[in-house]
Amino acid sequence: MEKGRVAAALGAQSSDPAGETKVRKAKILMDREFTNGRTNPRLFGAFVEHLGRCVYGGIFEPGHPTADRRGFRGDVLALVKELRPTIMRYPGGNFVSGYNWQDGVGPLADRPARLDLAWFTNEPNTFGTNEFIDWCKAADIEPMLAVNLGTRGGDAARNLVEYCNHPKGTHWSDLRRKHGWEKPHDVKFWCLGNQVDGPWQMEHKNATDYGKIAREAGKMMRLIDPSIELAACGSSGRNMPTFGRWEDEVLELTFDHVEYISLHTYINNYKNDTAAFLAAPDLMDHFIDEVVAIADAVAARRRSSKRIMLSFDEWNVWYRTRRSRADRVKEGWPVAPPILEEIYSMQDALAFGGACISLLNHADRVTAACIAQLVNVIAPIMTETGGPAWRQTIFHPFAQMSRLGRGRVLRTHVESETYDASYYDPRGPQELFFPVPNVAYVKVAAVAEESGRGVSLFLLNRDLKQDIGVNLDIRGFGRFTVTEAQELRHADLKTVNSKAEPNKIAPAPLEEISVDGSKVRVGLKPASWNVVHLSAA
Ligand code: AHR
Repeated sequence: MEKGRVAAALGAQSSDPAGETKVRKAKILMDREFTNGRTNPRLFGAFVEHLGRCVYGGIFEPGHPTADRRGFRGDVLALVKELRPTIMRYPGGNFVSGYNWQDGVGPLADRPARLDLAWFTNEPNTFGTNEFIDWCKAADIEPMLAVNLGTRGGDAARNLVEYCNHPKGTHWSDLRRKHGWEKPHDVKFWCLGNQVDGPWQMEHKNATDYGKIAREAGKMMRLIDPSIELAACGSSGRNMPTFGRWEDEVLELTFDHVEYISLHTYINNYKNDTAAFLAAPDLMDHFIDEVVAIADAVAARRRSSKRIMLSFDEWNVWYRTRRSRADRVKEGWPVAPPILEEIYSMQDALAFGGACISLLNHADRVTAACIAQLVNVIAPIMTETGGPAWRQTIFHPFAQMSRLGRGRVLRTHVESETYDASYYDPRGPQELFFPVPNVAYVKVAAVAEESGRGVSLFLLNRDLKQDIGVNLDIRGFGRFTVTEAQELRHADLKTVNSKAEPNKIAPAPLEEISVDGSKVRVGLKPASWNVVHLSAA
């Protein structure tokens, strides 16, 4: 549910002359003074893992016609700049739990190729930490590094912090300088491992064992650089059997040493139940509220006023290209194979937009988030190796959210008709259905610019058949004019973008919008994602 309120279902719908129901109605009220906090720039992050063609053939492809002397693809960089991610998580993901960071630094000729047991590939290590930092600089993005708390531990983690952040005069900092990076990388945001709660993870641990190793690694990392911020691993999904107890125990052990706990969610439509698929972002709302409650309960047990923030550092739609371990083994050990290359449809963009709204509406506690991932692998940007790059359908809601979602998130009081859904979210062989009651047909987030002169609205119509006439009363800003109004929709929800037709799904003008002072009326087409920017006089 929105972090405002969804009031009881509205009874009335307008009818066409034949008596057939045509247009739903909704009302949304908000006020300049009532907010859910400010969006932290880190809310608009993304993720680059050594997985498939995300690095090799994605951001890095020496010899590509648009590549610079470092091998960074210029066409991908241009799209990244349009997408506007603010922080980039690296190098994994499952990959990091078996990664030796030393393999990826120093002269290329000395870097070993290694078997990557997460994705059953051959990792050439021709791209590593220093190249990633340079790429982030080229893209104007803050780096977020994850350390290996699977096969390695506190010692390798603290050495990486020393290599990256210590100025000079020690073994690791001088090694960085010898490798050609004189100045420290000054990486602030560090993830203490990845999805350690998952049995698929290399050296998966229980909450107690993970909590202890995360605490000790974090302590040492911060002794080297007190300015860093640390995120402990939360559950890799709300559907994990250990969810809840995991967060409680991990935070009990790490509370004094971390700033963040992570959350991961991949939304699916395995059952071809699109109404339930579009309801799934409401479960992200619940997930966030539940993790906040647990983190605050841990604080309460200590009588502490410290508030642990949430890093939603993997989120997206993903279900078609999941691969079993058996499939991975069958394919052998290729270098950068085209795996997990999910092709996103119009309906995926809608569910994705719903997730954007969930993140925005929790800006007070979700202060970092990363779409997983950036290029080729479950990604908003697709490339052909040696060929062009293009925008997937989900590119558009993300780019709009990052461009217009900066500021104070307004609390919304929503009066909309609702529906009930049952969402299928399996965890391995476990069949699980989650009830999603009272799903408002309209899902909304509203963000006011700091200046108070503009408000952006993000509106999802989850009704697959009917228009919704939405009346908004946006109080306290004065008189509005519409400066931007766009919709994303297509009659065929299975429509995708491709190399041949890269712009089949792209924002188009939203025609039905009118303003009278602080009152705004928007007509939302069925199954549509809509973004409006209003300027206040
Ligand atoms: O993003 C793809 C994978 O999903 C990541 O490696 C892992 O952390 C998650 O299970």
